[in-house]
Amino acid sequence: MSKKSLFQCPVCSNALVQGERQYFCRKGHSYDIARKGYVNLLLPSHIGAGDPGDHKEMIECRRDFLNKGYYEIFSDHLNEALISQVSDMDKAKEICILDAGCGEGYYTSRLRNKLLTIDGIDAINMYGIDVSKAAIHYASGRDKNIRFAVASTYHTPILSESMDTILCVFAPRDEQEFSRILKPSGKLIIAAPGARHLLGLKKALYEESSFIGQKGTVGEGFELLKQFNVSYDIHLKGSEDIFNLLMMTPYSRHTDQDAVEDLKKLDKLDTEVDFNIMIYQKI
Ligand SMILES: C[S@@+](CC[C@H](N)C(=O)[O-])C[C@H]1O[C@@H](n2cnc3c(N)ncnc32)[C@H](O)[C@@H]1O
Ligand SMILES: [Zn+2]
Repeated sequence: MSKKSLFQCPVCSNALVQGERQYFCRKGHSYDIARKGYVNLLLPSHIGAGDPGDHKEMIECRRDFLNKGYYEIFSDHLNEALISQVSDMDKAKEICILDAGCGEGYYTSRLRNKLLTIDGIDAINMYGIDVSKAAIHYASGRDKNIRFAVASTYHTPILSESMDTILCVFAPRDEQEFSRILKPSGKLIIAAPGARHLLGLKKALYEESSFIGQKGTVGEGFELLKQFNVSYDIHLKGSEDIFNLLMMTPYSRHTDQDAVEDLKKLDKLDTEVDFNIMIYQKI
């Protein structure tokens, strides 16, 4: 049986309907559903040469690290930020959420699980997109009730004015696209690194470690409703967790091999984690 979806065809922008094995639009464009349940809506023209987004090893390291619970407190705050914006009126309707640049779906699936525990919310329509095929492969293994697609945020294959909330955690954003797909007064929740994020890791890697500048601000078309900071210390035990943390950060690409080898010899690492969460409303 065919089911409606909030995906739009990347070629003609018509709504995509989910069939048994494919998504299709009324103009006859179709997209196969992978065995894992996701769909690839990325057109070659949306990307440059090569495999876009985070590669398989980075994704696996992030998945293993996040599964250890080091960022659980942050994830809980993110969930609370979103829930704080859901009114009783919203609860009575289907809540439509997109996680843009969802990676391997850690925050996406934890958010859905949390929403299911809230009284009055029973209809959740959740989507996750990421340009990395490896990321979406793992994400679709986390929760079959979330529709995941390989797609770029810069060409978001989501129908206009269909989403109540967009979540964008440490991922690239496209304000025009976000504004297009949000319903009037829809919310955009951005999480970005705070000034002291992973300072302990940086100190272990570099002789000089600077603070991170302000990130995550959004301009035209949005009004900032609220922003807050979540910071705490994490204590990594074992070289595997330390290596996984390094691999899921941009430092893995900007650190010389000697420093990486030294880091691998550590069997514990304490570091601050520092997150800024911003809640915007579409205007
Ligand atoms: C730092 S990771 C964050 C992933 C996830 N939100 C999390 O916090 O675990 C950034 C993600 O953005 C994805 N990405 C990069 N460029 C993108 C684009 N143009 N559209 C969608 N996703 C993109 C990467 O593949 C990667 O999974
Ligand atoms: Zn089409």
